[in-house]
Amino acid sequence: MNFSTGTISKLLSSKKIVFFTGAGISAESGIPVFRGKEGIWNKLKPEELANFDAFLRNPAMVWEWYEHRKKIIHESEPNPAHLAIAEMEKLFYEVTVVTQNIDNLHRRAGSKTIYELHGNIERNYCIKCRTFYNEELEFSCGVPKCKCGGLIRPDIVWFGEYLPEDQFNNSDEAAKECDVFIVVGTSAVVYPAASLIYSAKENGAYIIEINLEPTEISSFADESIMGKAGEILPGLVKEIENKLS
Ligand code: OAD
Ligand code: ZN
Repeated sequence: MNFSTGTISKLLSSKKIVFFTGAGISAESGIPVFRGKEGIWNKLKPEELANFDAFLRNPAMVWEWYEHRKKIIHESEPNPAHLAIAEMEKLFYEVTVVTQNIDNLHRRAGSKTIYELHGNIERNYCIKCRTFYNEELEFSCGVPKCKCGGLIRPDIVWFGEYLPEDQFNNSDEAAKECDVFIVVGTSAVVYPAASLIYSAKENGAYIIEINLEPTEISSFADESIMGKAGEILPGLVKEIENKLS
């Protein structure tokens, strides 16, 4: 097993666990990550797709990209990493998932307490009156519009926008109260989401990182494990189950 005995004994004496996840946890489900060699942001420019002005300039292009991502997401399934996190609910008093992902895979895997910092691809709203349109949208007459005439956009946080306040505040509270904070598959460079790692640490949490490669927070974490989330997390569940049985 990859984990140190210190980490395992810390987990065994912990009640509240937070998982903080990024695109890397869904990579094994076939959803592309943003940064690194195979990252989306190597091929596409965030300023042309993931910001409000870009949407106003060319809503059809932005929608085309999100419909493409939605298709990939709909064709994907939760992988062993998502399932292992859901399984952890049987092993700890409280498990909270804080995700930067918009793909619903934690929910589909069965996790119960999930805070979504960057929105959700299944929701859309009118930019004028904020009415939500969460059903499949109709694109046959061009970019979908609200009854009020306003453009409908995906409920995804774009660059320069605020995070949903309730989701961030609940996440921050969970980060500050937890015993162990496990960072999975994120480059930890996008703020304010990444600030939760520091909030957790300042409030005494033990920080574990799981990633394919070292990141901004590797030297700061109490334990940093390099490898695939879909292999490491199920291994961790097994190890804890064995110790508890
Ligand atoms: P990134 O693409 O920046 O980082 C993905 C991380 O996952 C990298 O550090 C990879 O090394 C790691 N990784 C890839 N495959 C993995 C695997 N199988 N197991 C473990 N780790 C793996 O994605 P995020 O950190 O999530 O924002 O990016 C943060 C935000 O930037 C996203 O939420 C998105 C983006 O712009 C918005 O859409 C608002
Ligand atoms: Zn409207």
